[in-house]
Amino acid sequence: MHRDVVRESYSARSQEYMDLFGSIDSTHPSDQALMASWATTLTGAVLDAGCGPGQWTDFLAQCGLVVSGIDLVPQFVERARVQYPDLSFEVGAFEALDAATESMGGVLSWYSLIHHNPHDIEVPIAEFARVIRPGGGLLVGFFNGATVEAFDHAATTGYRWSVAELSQVLVTAGFEVIETYTRTGSGYRPHGAIIARRRSGEDTPEIDG
Ligand SMILES: C[S@@+](CC[C@H](N)C(=O)[O-])C[C@H]1O[C@@H](n2cnc3c(N)ncnc32)[C@H](O)[C@@H]1O
Repeated sequence: MHRDVVRESYSARSQEYMDLFGSIDSTHPSDQALMASWATTLTGAVLDAGCGPGQWTDFLAQCGLVVSGIDLVPQFVERARVQYPDLSFEVGAFEALDAATESMGGVLSWYSLIHHNPHDIEVPIAEFARVIRPGGGLLVGFFNGATVEAFDHAATTGYRWSVAELSQVLVTAGFEVIETYTRTGSGYRPHGAIIARRRSGEDTPEIDG
């Protein structure tokens, strides 16, 4: 199963990943600004879905949110529990969340969908839509490209998405796209981020940005 490949590939390189990316100091200032701004729009419980070592979970907690994290990789969850003992972290898969329907104020998926096969990316996104209450927020960070395309990632195959294509998936799943961002620079892959809001049944689907 593909999830096993993702878990095993990150498990094998978990120490390396944590050394390189496991601190908020290793994140880009503009991502921190985006995350902090998004946090001000949220109320209620927030889930960091695919939290890795938990640095963004803690960042959102520092922003005043009630936030927990789940990840496939036990080494990440163990590290997160040690580093951030006041927060809750569980090993789990975001395709089947242990959360009631419409119980969450928001979900963060920060580069955690990058390995998901584009053919069924609607599965985790539908699960995010299920647990987020109408009006709640979703922030997705991803690698940006002109179209959906596989690339060699250090862990396992990754997929770039265009903002328009990923936005369309979100809209189809019941989200309204509020803001989109891209960031490019030398020495790293182009990044993208989409802030979306869970529509209520009466809202009209709309793409923005
Ligand atoms: C590139 S890392 C990003 C981790 C973290 N969000 C960060 O910014 O450092 C991708 C993470 O997504 C997690 N992940 C991938 N597929 C997952 C799934 N189906 N359920 C839960 N976590 C998943 C991986 O285990 C990995 O920790």
